[in-house]
Amino acid sequence: MVYPIIFAMINILTMRILILNGPNLNLTGTREPEIYGHQTFDSLIQQLIELFPESEITYKQSNIEGELITILQAADHEFDGIVFNPAAYSHTSIALADAIRSIKIPVIEVHLSNIFAREVFRHKSYTAQACQANLNGFGMDGYRMAIEHLLRKNHRA
Ligand code: DQA
Repeated sequence: MVYPIIFAMINILTMRILILNGPNLNLTGTREPEIYGHQTFDSLIQQLIELFPESEITYKQSNIEGELITILQAADHEFDGIVFNPAAYSHTSIALADAIRSIKIPVIEVHLSNIFAREVFRHKSYTAQACQANLNGFGMDGYRMAIEHLLRKNHRA
């Protein structure tokens, strides 16, 4: 009965990654394309699934702060790492920062735009301060870079 052993080994090696987006990012592709580009997240997630066949990639998005907190709390048991773009909540939400600090799995914050080159109110990210690392201004490519970081630095124990 070697199959269950092989299956268990593959399961241990598979990194389960959650890509989590906050408010208004569901409109990416049509929303302020001069800042956020023309690509949709549906097409990005498809590309990432093809690029990282050894990982299990799940995508979630919510426009509601409390829902994002509930997703983060549950993710601690369901995933091995999170790539999180909290969008505008980055600049306002102590509750989301506390939720990130409350879970054990690594969270990488990603912003499509360079928040430090924009309005002053975007320069502060409460959530980034609670994350393992953050990426700003790489556009959609930031998500790929964050996944590569998770795969390199955060192998499952
Ligand atoms: C954003 C930057 C935020 O300031 C803004 O509110 C967003 C998108 C980004 O990905 O560049 O909604 O998170």
